[in-house]
Amino acid sequence: MTLEKAPPGVDPLTPSVARMYDYFLGGKDHFAVDREAAEAINAISPDAKELARANREFLGRAVRHLIDQGVRQFLDIGAGLPTRDNVHEVALRHAPDCRVVYVDNDPMVLVHARAILADNPHTVVAEGDLREPAWILGDPDVRAHLDFTQPVAVLMVAVLHFVTDDEEARRHVAGFRDALAPGSHLVISHMSPGEAFGDDLTAGKEIYSKSSAGGLAFRTHDEVLSLFDGFTLAEPGLVEIADWRPDDPVARALTTSSSGAIGLAGVGRLDS
Ligand SMILES: C[S@@+](CC[C@H](N)C(=O)[O-])C[C@H]1O[C@@H](n2cnc3c(N)ncnc32)[C@H](O)[C@@H]1O
Repeated sequence: MTLEKAPPGVDPLTPSVARMYDYFLGGKDHFAVDREAAEAINAISPDAKELARANREFLGRAVRHLIDQGVRQFLDIGAGLPTRDNVHEVALRHAPDCRVVYVDNDPMVLVHARAILADNPHTVVAEGDLREPAWILGDPDVRAHLDFTQPVAVLMVAVLHFVTDDEEARRHVAGFRDALAPGSHLVISHMSPGEAFGDDLTAGKEIYSKSSAGGLAFRTHDEVLSLFDGFTLAEPGLVEIADWRPDDPVARALTTSSSGAIGLAGVGRLDS
């Protein structure tokens, strides 16, 4: 896409984490500035693309698990640019009565998602920021589409690491948790330092500090676990994304980047 084709309201001069992720996934919705930033990440971590794909596969497995748990409503926050196997596509394949709300704060995501999903009665696209739970939960379109007296799965997949302050991240997750009915679920995947050494992580953070997200936090296992406060984790707990209920445990996808950083993933259930 050329700069001239940037939709109104879209900044083609600042790397967008949504468009960088689209580039990693082999999509077409990115500008030169996004490709440059993504390639700079690739230089530190040449398997960033595989990590992105493994993250999408985890998302698909998590949605299937939620369907098995009887969940039919999904609030996907930081949904990203539409790609293959979006949440509603996976969900509807297994249960035809699912409803999905896609929320994102990136204007390009909103333009594309609305264009693609305008006529789909199962989906709603809402502009919103993870850091404003009350705004999202009070959005009339969100409330018209989802019944919060019934279980809702809140998906925060590869997005919470863009909220760099630990206390703030916990507070925002709790803001959603407190609005949910028993039987609701929380899905998180999150970048973690793993065995990585300082320099690569610092260089990666530096690149993301200049992006639309303004920063990136690598959280430890315990720090990510604390985001599930109030939820009971489904087996196998909080693990590397490829180890979360793999379809084929033998052909394990790669999740540890060559920088040593890893993606952690878990699904929690709210009991009461
Ligand atoms: C790495 S992509 C992940 C997309 C999708 N969840 C997935 O895992 O395949 C992160 C998405 O979160 C969005 N995002 C980042 N910070 C956000 C925030 N504070 N509120 C809402 N969305 C946010 C970005 O615009 C981007 O679309």
